[in-house]
Amino acid sequence: MDVLKIVDLHVNVEDKEILKGVSLTARSGETVALLGPNGHGKSTLLQAIMGNPRYRITSGQILLNDQDVLTMSVDERSKAGLFLGMQYPSEVSGVVNADFLRASINARRAKPLSLFQFYRLLDSTYKKMGIPFEMANRSLNVGFSGGEKKRNEILQMILLEPRFALLDEIDSGLDIDAMTIVASAIREEQEKGRGFLVVSHYARLYNMINLNRTIVMVNGKIAVEGGPEIIQKIDTKGYEWIKTELGIDIEKEEPAMSAVSIGVCATKEAIRDGK
Ligand SMILES: Nc1ncnc2c1ncn2[C@@H]1O[C@H](COP(=O)(O)OP(=O)(O)OP(=O)(O)O)[C@@H](O)[C@H]1O
Ligand SMILES: [Mg+2]
Repeated sequence: MDVLKIVDLHVNVEDKEILKGVSLTARSGETVALLGPNGHGKSTLLQAIMGNPRYRITSGQILLNDQDVLTMSVDERSKAGLFLGMQYPSEVSGVVNADFLRASINARRAKPLSLFQFYRLLDSTYKKMGIPFEMANRSLNVGFSGGEKKRNEILQMILLEPRFALLDEIDSGLDIDAMTIVASAIREEQEKGRGFLVVSHYARLYNMINLNRTIVMVNGKIAVEGGPEIIQKIDTKGYEWIKTELGIDIEKEEPAMSAVSIGVCATKEAIRDGK
């Protein structure tokens, strides 16, 4: 069994502490749902696990089968079996989707796939994901619709066969037919024994896949752990109950730019003074 263990993880983004001591153990064959209000650290956790250098680990550990993930480069993490399906997949012009996928697959194989084997695999995976095969010849994510980008992330996941897939709002932007396709692809991968950490704001995707545990992240920490009933509670009641029932104050996001507040104040004064 594969084990991904996160121990008391603290992460800074641009000198602001976002994760304030997260501990979590995920196992292969198990799916963990990760929810939480906007801006409370879900993507930060996933990006830190995958090794995005903008997310600076100040203390704590990430272990994959007792191997120290924090000493590994991003490609070593990928080869070790970690995969991140991104909330906002990047557009990479000039890199053809098919070339990118072929290079990624072959980088983790002792003997590269032949061109014929690769195209056969690609064709069947595109069919499974309901994506037109012509998209393989377009630059990675460039001009893809929101839903196409998300389906392309799942297509990568299928082809790369990770031990653990971290899926960040993979359902956002998907129409209901695409959601059904994505959910069925996730279920198929679950049956192969992969581990999943799935971030979503909505019960809809969670209801369509198999779940073992639910975790809610608030203020950069895990505030609640339990079963699927937590998802239904959030779906109907939102997050206020975390404050009323658990006494945890949910920090609000800071205003983005002070210049905006000056403008707002000036407008308020003008209204007050009847200008
Ligand atoms: N590159 C960055 N530069 C500055 N601040 C950042 C950066 N990345 C994240 N943050 C800040 O870190 C905090 C946590 O962000 P994060 O993306 O982890 O939230 P989230 O829980 O995934 O939210 P959402 O549900 O909206 O996706 C936010 O306040 C965000 O503005
Ligand atoms: Mg996020």
